Amino acid sequence: MADKINVPHVLSRKGGPKLTMVTAYDAPTARIADAAGVDMILVGDSVANAVLGYDDTLAVDIDVMIHHTAAVARTEPDALVVGDMPWMSYHVSVDDAVRNAGRLVREGGAEAVKLEGGRKRIPVVKAILSAEIPVMGHLGLTPQSVHAMGGYRVQGKAGEAARELLEDAHELAEAGVFALVLEGIPDVLAQLITKEVSVPTIGIGAGEHTDGQVLVFHDVLGLHDGRVPKFVRKYANLFDDAVLALRAYVGDVQSGAFPGDEESYHMTEEAAKELFKEEPRDDLSWPLSW
Ligand code: KIV
Repeated sequence: MADKINVPHVLSRKGGPKLTMVTAYDAPTARIADAAGVDMILVGDSVANAVLGYDDTLAVDIDVMIHHTAAVARTEPDALVVGDMPWMSYHVSVDDAVRNAGRLVREGGAEAVKLEGGRKRIPVVKAILSAEIPVMGHLGLTPQSVHAMGGYRVQGKAGEAARELLEDAHELAEAGVFALVLEGIPDVLAQLITKEVSVPTIGIGAGEHTDGQVLVFHDVLGLHDGRVPKFVRKYANLFDDAVLALRAYVGDVQSGAFPGDEESYHMTEEAAKELFKEEPRDDLSWPLSW
C-alpha cells in the first residue's frame, strides 16, 4: 500500500517528480483514481457538468459539494482529498467562506480546499488558512467566471493580462496556498509562473512545464460522448465500452440467455417437496443442481 499523501508532501514535490491529480465525485471514481496511484483527488465543482447534467459549474452549492466530497473521503484514499469551493460559497463574506471551507472539511472529509481567483481572494485565502485549512489556488480560465470572461476562453494571451496572472500567482503563493492550478493559459506563461513561484503548479490546458497535471475523470476515461477540450487526452473510451456491454445485457435478457443457472438461487429438494406436497406441479422448471 502506498503512503498517504499530505500537504507537506505535495509542497515537497515542487520541481518534481511531477504531481498527478484527477477529479472524482463518488466512491467508485475515487477508488479507481486511488488504485491508479494519483497524488490528489479533486472533488471538483465540475461534478455539475460531468455528473449532474448542468451546462456550467455555477449550479452546484456547498451542500452538493459536501455530499460528493464525503462520498470520496469515505473511501479513505491514499491520495490527498481536495474539496472544491463552489461559486458563491466564498464570494459573500470572509466569515461565510471560512464557515463553508470548514464544512467541506468537517462534513465532507476534505483535507484541503480549492478556490478560484487571484489577488482579490487573498483575504479569503488568509482567513481559511488561519482556520488551519490548506488552500489550493486556481488561476487562468476559471470556470466560475464564465459570464465575466464571456465564455470559456484561454486567459493571459497578451502582455498585460499575462503580467496580471503572474502577479496573481505570486500573491497567492505569498499568501500561503500550497499549490496552484493553472487552467487554460499559454504554455510559456505557465512555465514562467512555475519557475517564479515557490509552490507546485498543477496545469490543465497550460502546457508541459508545470509541476503537475490535472484532468477531469470523465474526460480522461471517455465516459461521455460529448466533445472534450483540446487539452484533454482520452486514455479510454469507457462510454463506448459501456454501451456495448449494456447492449449485450439487453440482448441476453431478450433472448433468455440471462440469467442462467449460475446466476440463480435454488431451493433445497426438501423445501421444494414441502412447498408442492399438496399440489405437485410439473409446469415449473426444476433446478439442475438437485
Ligand atoms: O472542478 C474542476 O474539475 C476543476 C479542475 C478542472 C481543475 O476545477
